[in-house]
Amino acid sequence: MSVLVGLDVGTGGARAVAIDESGEIVAEASSEYPLHTPHPGWTEQDPADWWEGAKGVLKKVATATGEQIAGIGLTGQMHGSVFLDASDRVIRPALLWNDQRTYKQCEQITSAVGEERLISIAGNPALTGFQAPKIVWLKEEEPENFGRISHVLLPKDYVRLQLTGEYATDASDAAGTLLLDGQARDWAGEILDALEIPQEWMPEVYEGPESTGILRESVAEELGLPQGIPVAAGGGDNAAAAVGTGIVGPGLVNSSVGTSGVLFAHASEFNPDPSGCLHAFCHAVPGAYHLMGVTLSAGGSLSWWRETLGGDYDELIEAASGIRPGSEGLVFLPYLSGERTPHLDPRARGAFFGLTARHGVQHMTRAVMEGVIFSLRDSLEIMRELDVPVEDVRATGGGARSDLWRQLQADIYAIPIRRTVADEGPAYGAALLAGVASGTYATVDEATSVVTLREEVTEPDPERTKIYEEYYEVYRSLYPTTSSAMSRLTDLAAGSTGE
Ligand code: XUL
Repeated sequence: MSVLVGLDVGTGGARAVAIDESGEIVAEASSEYPLHTPHPGWTEQDPADWWEGAKGVLKKVATATGEQIAGIGLTGQMHGSVFLDASDRVIRPALLWNDQRTYKQCEQITSAVGEERLISIAGNPALTGFQAPKIVWLKEEEPENFGRISHVLLPKDYVRLQLTGEYATDASDAAGTLLLDGQARDWAGEILDALEIPQEWMPEVYEGPESTGILRESVAEELGLPQGIPVAAGGGDNAAAAVGTGIVGPGLVNSSVGTSGVLFAHASEFNPDPSGCLHAFCHAVPGAYHLMGVTLSAGGSLSWWRETLGGDYDELIEAASGIRPGSEGLVFLPYLSGERTPHLDPRARGAFFGLTARHGVQHMTRAVMEGVIFSLRDSLEIMRELDVPVEDVRATGGGARSDLWRQLQADIYAIPIRRTVADEGPAYGAALLAGVASGTYATVDEATSVVTLREEVTEPDPERTKIYEEYYEVYRSLYPTTSSAMSRLTDLAAGSTGE
């Protein structure tokens, strides 16, 4: 029986999941690494930490499953930029997906290429989180570092370079750079030229289930992995999670609450949202696409709240479960790191709105969770306006394991929420893609046939849904009426920190 390993280079840490051919989990391991915020709105990580984390978790699953491992698939946080010199040395810490420093560079990219052209070629407007503006930022702000660049990689692809010695990526993650031609599923010469980024810096683009090379002998030996096994291209974390929950056909949608929150709809064709509010990216399924809306601080909002209070998640959520829908007139805006969908505004800020002396921690916790799901509902509304079929919604990410997070999704979307048996998110999907690369399965469809749904379905409650409709209206009205105050506060804060 072969064993397939998925490796997720996440924001909080690395995770490896080993499954057998029937999709059963046979081993798993996780480790954490730090995230650095050298200035407000900046987020960075040291790629060496990813590699150490990856080695640690791979070694653990190798010890548990050993010689049976037939292939490894990679996934990870999207959009980050790893700058390498000619000797593959990391030039500076990587800028991450939730880094907001590139506001000015996005404006420059938009005027260099044109907003409509960007959306029609790359599927998206220039957004601070994406990789291209990070490269332009380096050119302007750290020209010496820029002058040393020989390659630019995405986070999981830096780990791939260590594993295989190859500069390679997959189409779903490459689409998050803003430098990919979505239709052609290859680098967009027009955008690269307009931004004066040499194509030689970019890795080769593969489809998710393709092998990008064989594990290096020395690495196999060090980690106790079999020699000669393939490393599959894999996918960005959202595309890989979608493979792992079987979101590989029309009408299927993933609702993920992790650090970020994502509503992900499969698409058979490259059909970008003309407003640019939903991202249009390639899927990790060959030839397929997806549309997705992103809430930057989803589980991240709850982590912030828990850290601020110094409390325990389970206790906080339990207390919030006892509060009525709407948190007695309290609404939370989850824009703690700015926001992508639907506002595309790096200067947006979070808020509690409607506080009274009656409100306690339990109301505020519930309002935080409701605000996050209202934000994902914004993405659902755009999908509905674009006539994207939304028939079967599956919860994924850490939030899928919590009754309250799932019930809030069912009630606020007014849709039943399903869940897969293996709740392993991106790493599970990456393992399935490794199964195709290693010949265990013939196609991604065959691989995803092992994905099984739990019998339990979280149904929306009509009473609560009705209440939430009214609260959602209030939620929606708050950003337009406060956004200029948010921007002003962001500018004032930047002034006071000397940026
Ligand atoms: C997607 C995005 C996030 C990261 C988090 O566009 O920015 O979901 O991939 O890992």
